[in-house]
Amino acid sequence: MDFQLTEEQLAVQAAARDFAQNELWAGVIERDEHQKFPAEQIKKMGELGFMGMMVSPEYGGSGLDTVSYVLAMEEISKVDASCSVIMSVNNSLVCWGLEKFGTEEQKQKYLTKLASGEIIGAFCLSEPEAGSDATMQRTTAEDKGDYYLLNGTKNWITNGSSASVYLVIAQTNPELKSRGINVLIVDKDTPGFTIGPKENKLGIRGSDTHSLMFNDVKVPKENRIGPDGFGFKFAMQVLAGGRIGIAAQALGIASGALELSLKYAQQRKAFGVEIAKHQAIQFKLADMATEIDAARLLCLKAASDKDQQLDYSKSGAMAKLFSSKVAMDSAVEAVQIHGGYGFVKEYHVERLMRDAKITQIYEGTSEIQKIVISRELLK
Ligand code: CAA
Ligand code: FAD
Repeated sequence: MDFQLTEEQLAVQAAARDFAQNELWAGVIERDEHQKFPAEQIKKMGELGFMGMMVSPEYGGSGLDTVSYVLAMEEISKVDASCSVIMSVNNSLVCWGLEKFGTEEQKQKYLTKLASGEIIGAFCLSEPEAGSDATMQRTTAEDKGDYYLLNGTKNWITNGSSASVYLVIAQTNPELKSRGINVLIVDKDTPGFTIGPKENKLGIRGSDTHSLMFNDVKVPKENRIGPDGFGFKFAMQVLAGGRIGIAAQALGIASGALELSLKYAQQRKAFGVEIAKHQAIQFKLADMATEIDAARLLCLKAASDKDQQLDYSKSGAMAKLFSSKVAMDSAVEAVQIHGGYGFVKEYHVERLMRDAKITQIYEGTSEIQKIVISRELLK
């Protein structure tokens, strides 16, 4: 078993760290405060190859492995989890799904622009009444011969207003249940497609989350991905990989919390010594570091499973379940270590605590990860 990263993986990690420290750190508090979408930052991330990391160079991507993607996600999430969720949706849900299952025409038309960051994409599965219970799709894609007629509402869509391209899951044959669902590529300017107001969120406030409304939207048949009825399996396969990205996001939030805590504990004095000299603080740091290393190993294991074409739905779900708990626990401890200063925005850790929570909810709640893991165990 080799725990060493390759030179290429180390270079990607260093590039992501430099970018996050030099380009994301300075404005992150302001973007969070004003729910400001990081448009310039995402453009630069595209130029640096972070928006289509695993896409083949043939389609404008960086052609890197999933391990490199996890390393970059961790570094970017340490500083700005809003940027990393935008990156994660584009990379693991939209680009990966299109490259794996799209037609050559779809790849030429959409993937090349998405992978280079020229445009960004959104993945639209959740509905007002279909979140965890994702097969209960109310949005319909009625087969009209050479096009589908799309009607319904999607909820909580990341990149909701900033995207140009939307992968929309919808029911075509309700009697076939999950086997009657399709996935369609919808262009933003298609008549009948409207975007609801931006959600005012607890965390990841720089990312834009919207509901989307489809009212008699005509989608050409050639915009369907995969065969008729493949939409739910598409969503599940895409999410199996997406969960590795969100696990890495959670890992980054946790390691960001530890780095800030280590620095602060060696500066802040109480009772005549740095607080890092008090054993209670040392033990918190030791617990955080141990849990973060365990989370990192789970993330890298899941990424390595995917790179080796092994089954990664269980290892990805385990990585997300564990890392998201570590993110939450570490961020709460980081606030505690910072005392009153941890409660104000200037010291960053309160934002990490708010951002950590979503990692236990999206791309399948922690309870859903346990369902995925236990089903695999009991197969
Ligand atoms: N790969 C391929 N096919 C799969 C699969 C997988 N990993 N998992 C399930 N399927 C197939 C099943 O084999 C079955 O197909 P057949 O009928 O042909 O056998 C079909 O899908 C239905 O599967 P289930 O019977 O297991 O379905 P279920 O109703 O029990 O639900 C679930 C399973 C795992 C709970 C699923 O509904 C789920 O993952 N829910 C959570 C939804 C979710 O993660 N949403 C995230 C939205 S995106 C997002 O959140 C992005 C963001 O924030 C940034
Ligand atoms: P529910 O499914 O109603 O769950 C409520 C509670 O019940 C949860 O604790 C859940 O774990 C629990 N529960 C439900 N079923 C079970 C069960 N069988 N056993 C045990 N417990 C259960 N979706 C997209 O499609 N695309 C996106 O880009 C996207 N981005 C998002 C961004 C944000 C900021 C947010 C908040 C959500 C986003 N989502 C997105 C939606 C997200 O994936 C869902 O919120 C999530 O899957 C949970 O669905 P729900 O909110 O309907 O909760």
